[in-house]
Amino acid sequence: MYIPFARKYRPRKFSEVVGQDVAVRVLKNAIKLNKVSHAYLFAGPRGTGKTTIARILTKALNCLQPVDGEPCGVCENCLAIDKGSFPDLIEIDAASNRGIDDIRAIRDAVSYTPIKGKYKVYILDEAHMLTKEAFNALLKTLEEPPPKTVFVLCTTEYEKIMPTILSRCQRLIFSKLREDQIVENLKKICQAEGIQYEEEALYMIAKLSDGGMRDAVSLLDQLSTYGEGKVEVELIEEFLGIPSQERVRDFMLLLLESQVDSALNFIRDISQKGFNLSRLCDLLQEEIRTLLLYRSLREPEKVMQVEDFHRKLSQVPINALLYLEKVVNTIKLDARSRDFLKAFELAIIKTQIVKDIVPISDLIKYSLSSNPRINQAEEKREEVVNPFKVLESKLDKLTFEILKRSKYEIKGDVITFYIREKDLSAEDMNRIKAIYPKVEFSVEAEEKGAEGLPPFVEKVKDMFSAKIISHEQRDKGKGSSGKGT
Ligand SMILES: Nc1ncnc2c1ncn2[C@@H]1O[C@H](COP(=O)(O)OP(=O)(O)O)[C@@H](O)[C@H]1O
Ligand SMILES: [Mg+2]
Ligand SMILES: [Zn+2]
Repeated sequence: MYIPFARKYRPRKFSEVVGQDVAVRVLKNAIKLNKVSHAYLFAGPRGTGKTTIARILTKALNCLQPVDGEPCGVCENCLAIDKGSFPDLIEIDAASNRGIDDIRAIRDAVSYTPIKGKYKVYILDEAHMLTKEAFNALLKTLEEPPPKTVFVLCTTEYEKIMPTILSRCQRLIFSKLREDQIVENLKKICQAEGIQYEEEALYMIAKLSDGGMRDAVSLLDQLSTYGEGKVEVELIEEFLGIPSQERVRDFMLLLLESQVDSALNFIRDISQKGFNLSRLCDLLQEEIRTLLLYRSLREPEKVMQVEDFHRKLSQVPINALLYLEKVVNTIKLDARSRDFLKAFELAIIKTQIVKDIVPISDLIKYSLSSNPRINQAEEKREEVVNPFKVLESKLDKLTFEILKRSKYEIKGDVITFYIREKDLSAEDMNRIKAIYPKVEFSVEAEEKGAEGLPPFVEKVKDMFSAKIISHEQRDKGKGSSGKGT
């Protein structure tokens, strides 16, 4: 018989639980020291191990030969609990048994001592769904707990539990699982099942599950069936109709670089392949949001999972990101009056000006980093050159400043400087090209500077503290004041 992965791979011992370190430690120690509470409240997102841990606790309490707080897993009681046939474990779904009669029934039942084991355990799932009357009835029970009885209230909505109940329970907070924890667990399952996987694909599943292990494991189950024993990014994209994170990030880089043509091609291709554009929009927003977070915080590590990808983009101006965020936010609104593809196209066109907000050195970094070949080779990324740095180190200061203050344009990795006729001599230009071959010059005809100064002097005037004056002016000054150099 086929058992779904989520059930087949439900942890059977505390040591098999992924994460939830605090809950596991508190419970294991309570068992070892014989200090188990009468009532626990397990609060946290769905699919993070609440029911699982409540059952392990039941086993540990009733196991015939427990070892160091862990259930043995093989005794009669452990086996019965795993099978769901243990008479002293009562699981109640408050979502469907929310009335007072159900709780009264519990209250009456708890007065009986355990039938088979040492402890009776009540697991009350979705406890926040109980009616007020049911809560009050439960409260009475919790006030005078019968001996050898443990209540485990589970909830995904902590704030909805009445304070009077809260104060009578030991509270254990369950957290979402980290991506790497989920991936690790999925890997184990793949190995046990003989599933061939791409690591990237497992990360994609983890991301999609938003910290919920059940969702991740179930998705792996479905995908491996769909892929006939293989789990690959491309198959996930196909199965779910959503693009991978890598693609979303590439797209975001295109937008930051104002590469309108490529971005338009991307979106048309994605749309033509039948991907869900609304979902792409969500994913894109999420990428922009995390990058903004990364760029805005002093210690982003404390708030988000920082990846190399973010570090690589640590120079993106916040303004550019904020602008991009605004543009992307309008897509969904816009898609109401036209279709998603057109809304995306319009947004892409609006990103044309992002480039103007991004400093040139960053643009060079992006265009190299979005090139997949270089992306893969970690060392090569380190070698990405900033032409301004190279030129600054090898040129005399004056020539460098002239370049820096000239208009420039970048296409691929070629920089074109727009200079005026007398800014640089042919010799200078050759010298620069020898230092950095990917430089082009576009020379405009000379126009006279305001004070009759050669144009290049105009451009670098403020470099000098003393005022620069033209020869004529200097000669004049000499004549009248007598001061000279
Ligand atoms: N912390 C965890 N470690 C390992 N597997 C987990 C964990 N949390 C959930 N799972 C997986 O998800 C399934 C459902 O978990 P469950 O405990 O019922 O979640 P909850 O009660 O919090 O909604 C389990 O059978 C298991 O496969
Ligand atoms: Mg549950
Ligand atoms: Zn046992």
